[in-house]
Amino acid sequence: MNRDMKTVFSGVQPSGNLTIGNYLGAIRNFATFPEDYKRFYCVVDLHAITVRQVPAELRRRTYETLALYIACGLDPEKNTLFVQSQVPAHAELAWMLNCYTMFGELSRMTQFKDKSAKHADNINAGLFTYPTLMAADILLYQTDIVPVGIDQKQHLELTRDIAARFNSVYGDTFTMPEPYIPETGMKIMSLAEPTQKMSKSDPNPNAVIRILDTPEEIMKKCKRAVTDSETEVRYGEGKDGINNLMSIYRCFTGKTFEEIEREFAGRGYGDFKTAVGEAIVEGLRPVQSEFAKLMADKAYLEEVMKKGAADAAYFARRTMSKVRRKLGFIG
Ligand code: TYM
Repeated sequence: MNRDMKTVFSGVQPSGNLTIGNYLGAIRNFATFPEDYKRFYCVVDLHAITVRQVPAELRRRTYETLALYIACGLDPEKNTLFVQSQVPAHAELAWMLNCYTMFGELSRMTQFKDKSAKHADNINAGLFTYPTLMAADILLYQTDIVPVGIDQKQHLELTRDIAARFNSVYGDTFTMPEPYIPETGMKIMSLAEPTQKMSKSDPNPNAVIRILDTPEEIMKKCKRAVTDSETEVRYGEGKDGINNLMSIYRCFTGKTFEEIEREFAGRGYGDFKTAVGEAIVEGLRPVQSEFAKLMADKAYLEEVMKKGAADAAYFARRTMSKVRRKLGFIG
């Protein structure tokens, strides 16, 4: 690969129906990189099995996540869109990197702590080593830039530590990746508990707006969103619910917080919630209609996956042969 060309990599787990958090914090940004960057966007199904999945649902969501990538503006002719388990080098490099990742480092990962609390009956080794698989995803493609939400920052820091450790032992092998976390949309909060991140696996349906929710569902959830006992639409401390709705509104309309405060001065929360709902519905409309068309053509999605996996495997092979040689493996 021409090293003057920047490489972008990111991934989304097909572990639940995607939310506007995934959209605003990650997927929407994927389409903003210049065309002369090499862009890999992966559906990370290997990560998803760290939590129990129903196989038929995992399969359906894998198609859906790929279709959403395309519906959100990622042209498969210009981006490498692929499914992680179809490129075995991810699992292979993850194993090798496990041997260069410390138990203490993995123990400190907040996502591991949160997920082990949530799935206390299934704290499996994959959940623990999840970040090394993520490091493998990124390092395999000599990635420069990783667009993600703020919740993935710690995993990115660990990826950099692993890369630096490997490079210091074996000489320059991996490119040092940088996270790309724009301030707008980096952490969309739950509508029911606005101090918590909006999460696709939240069992409370009112906490989460999904990219594929109907307009009626979106309006209803916005109206029910938890706010506070004041009436003024204002961004400030102790107003987590309103702050979150203002952030969402800002993402969909491009307005600043000051403009939003002015727009709703003296109008109360009811009006504001309606406007937020309408902005979300309008923003998602083109994505939803494109998504419906794509899902009607599974053969096309399979073709995209196949071509994407072949392209990704080509670049992965180049890194793997270098890594194998450095580690002392034959051939
Ligand atoms: P996942 O599937 O949980 O989420 C996908 C992307 O959405 C972002 N995100 C959010 N952004 C803002 N507000 C929210 N409420 C919100 N919820 C999720 C996440 O930060 C992420 O960017 N470990 C990753 C998947 C992954 C990956 C990778 C990412 C695997 N390998 C390599 C980048 C590079 C994850 O669980 O994402």
